[in-house]
Amino acid sequence: MFEPLFLTDMLLALAAIIAAVVTGGLAGRLARRPAGLRRLRFALYGTATLVVLRLAVAVLILTGGLALADSRLIVQVPLAVLPIAWALMAVRRHDPVMAAHAAAGGVLLSGVWLFIPFDPVIQLIVSVPAVGLSALVGRWRTGGSRLARLPWAAVVYLLAPAVVLGLSYQANVAAAHAGGHHGGSMDWGSGAMPHHAAQARSVDQLTGPRDKTPDARFTLTAARGKVRLGSGREIDALTFNGKAPGPELRVRLGSLVEVTLINTDVEEGVTLHWHGVDVPNAEDGVPGVTQEAVLPGGRHVYRFVPDRPGTFWYHTHRDAAETVERGLFGALIVENPQQAAHQGVEKTVFTHLWPRAEEAIAAFGTADRPSNEAVAAGEPVLLRLINSSEEPHRIHVGGTAYTVTAIDGNPIQGATPLTAGTDLLLAAGGRYDLAFTMPRSTVTLSIDVNEIPNTAALAFSPDGTAPPDTLGMGPLFDPLTYGTAAPAGEDRYDRAFDLRLDDGFGFAMGRFNYVSSSINGRLYPAVPMLMVSAGDRVKVRIANRSLIDHPMHLHGHRIRVLSRNGVPATGSPWWTDTLNVAPGEVFEVAFTAGNPGIWMDHCHNFKHGSEGMVMHLGYAGVTTPYTEDRIPE
Ligand code: C2O
Ligand code: CU
Repeated sequence: MFEPLFLTDMLLALAAIIAAVVTGGLAGRLARRPAGLRRLRFALYGTATLVVLRLAVAVLILTGGLALADSRLIVQVPLAVLPIAWALMAVRRHDPVMAAHAAAGGVLLSGVWLFIPFDPVIQLIVSVPAVGLSALVGRWRTGGSRLARLPWAAVVYLLAPAVVLGLSYQANVAAAHAGGHHGGSMDWGSGAMPHHAAQARSVDQLTGPRDKTPDARFTLTAARGKVRLGSGREIDALTFNGKAPGPELRVRLGSLVEVTLINTDVEEGVTLHWHGVDVPNAEDGVPGVTQEAVLPGGRHVYRFVPDRPGTFWYHTHRDAAETVERGLFGALIVENPQQAAHQGVEKTVFTHLWPRAEEAIAAFGTADRPSNEAVAAGEPVLLRLINSSEEPHRIHVGGTAYTVTAIDGNPIQGATPLTAGTDLLLAAGGRYDLAFTMPRSTVTLSIDVNEIPNTAALAFSPDGTAPPDTLGMGPLFDPLTYGTAAPAGEDRYDRAFDLRLDDGFGFAMGRFNYVSSSINGRLYPAVPMLMVSAGDRVKVRIANRSLIDHPMHLHGHRIRVLSRNGVPATGSPWWTDTLNVAPGEVFEVAFTAGNPGIWMDHCHNFKHGSEGMVMHLGYAGVTTPYTEDRIPE
C-alpha cells in the first residue's frame, strides 16, 4: 500500500519542481514587465495544487507511522506550504513578486530534498535562509539594472542542494580517510555511553578455540571455473573445490570446526563468512574488518564451534555483488547429535540468479530448466531452502500441504501445516526449512523472476518423470503469526536505534552515487557505527521508505522480530538473521549484544551494499587493526 504512495509522491515532487521553476521564471519576468500577473497567478495555483496533493500523500503515508513520514512532515511539507500560502495571499494584492520567489524556492527545495535524503535538520537549516534570500533577491530584481536581470534567484535555490551534497561528500570522505569503521562517527542510540572504559581488545584476539584439536576439518579452494547449468548453458563462474555452489559442509552442534580457505586465482580476493552462525568476530570473514582478503596463492584458517543446529550457508565477502553471484557460496548444515537424524529424503535447495550479460538466469541450484526427481510416496521430505541471490524470491509450493519447520535455522514452535499452494517469500540470504509427507502425486516448487511465472521449477513425483505443475500466486506465508507464542521475554532495553532506509543521491567511499540506498541519509562509510556494550539488550527500528526491498543482515547475532508496522509478532518467536524489509514496512527487532566485536550490518542485496548500504555494529573497547580501503562487501 505504501509503495504506490511513495511512487506517487516522487512523481508529484518532480512535477512540483518543474512548476516551481516556471513560477520563479514568471515572477522574475513580472518584476521587469508588470503585465504577466495573470500568468503568474495561474502558475501559483498550479504549483499550489501539487503542494496540496503532496500534503495529502504525506498524510496517507503518516498512517504507516511517523518513521515513514517524518522527513516529509518536518521538512518537505512546511517548506512548500508556508511560502506558497504567502504567495497565494500576495498575488491578490499589487506586489506578489517577493512572495512568488519565496514560493518557487520553497517548493523547489521541498521536492529536491525527497531525492537527497541527507539529514533533515541540515536540509531545514539551509532551506530557510535560501527561501528568505530568494524573496529578497526577487525584490531587488525589481530594480531592473542589468546586473539584477541575471537569474540570481535560481542561483540561490541551487546553492542549498549544492551545500547539502557538499556536506554529504565531506562526511563520506572524512570517514573514508579515517579508515572506515574506526574513523567514522559513533551512534550510541538512546542509551548512555558506558562510564568505565570497556576492556580494550583487538578483533584479532576474538578468535575461535586455537589450541584444541578440531573435530572436523575441511578445505575450501576457491578458483575460477565453469559451471554447466541444467539447460547446458555455461557460466563463467567462481568455484569452491571445483563446484558452484560449493560443497555442502555438515558439522555437529558443539563440535570444533576448522576450515582452511585457499585461493588459487580469484583476483578479487576471497574470504569465508558463515552466514547466520554466530562465530567469534575474528572468524567472521569480513575483509578490512576481521581479516585481510585472501589473495591468489594465499590461505586462511577459520575455527569455530557452531552453537545452534539448522540451515546456514557460507559465502565470500569480497566484492560479493559479483563473486557470490558467480558461485562462491555453499550450504552449511549444523546437525544436532541429540536429535535423531531425519528419516526419509533431505535436500538442500538454493534459489539463485546466475549472472549473464543480458539477464540473470534463475535456478534451483544449477537447475535452470524444469527438473524432476523421484521420491517414493509416503516418504517424509525435508527441504532446506536457501536464497543465495540478491533478490527476494516468492516461491510457489504446489501439490502438498507443508510445514515451515525453521526460519534461518531457528525452529518454529507449534508449526502447523499450510495449505497446498501457499507461497513463501524468502529474503535474499534467508532460509526456510520445509517438511511434508510425499503424496502419490506431484509436488512442485517454482519461482517467478521479472514477472515471468515459473521461471525455474522443481518437481518431485513417485516415478520421477512428472513435469512440474504451473503454479499461480497463492496466499503468502506470514511468520508474524505462524506457530505458537512463547511467554514474552523481558522487554527492558538498554538502547534503541532508529534506521531509516531511503533512495536518493549521495556519496559512497567518496564516489557520487546516483539513486542508491542510504541508511539515515548516509552511505558507507559515513553511516555512524551503532555502538553497544557487552550484555546490552538492544532494540532497533527499521523503516523502509524506499521503493525496493532491503534484506537487512546483522552478522554475529540473531535478531527477534517484535512487530511489523505496529502489529506485534504473535506466532512462535520469529528469530532471524536476514530480514526482508519491503517498501513501507517498519519492523521493530531486538537482540542481545552477547558477541563482542565489530560486526557488519548491511543490506544483503550486495548491489545495494556495494553502493553504500553498509554499517557496523561495534562493541565498546573493540578495535581492529585492518583498514577498509573499499566497501567490505
Ligand atoms: Cu551473508 Cu555480510 O553476509
Ligand atoms: Cu537493499
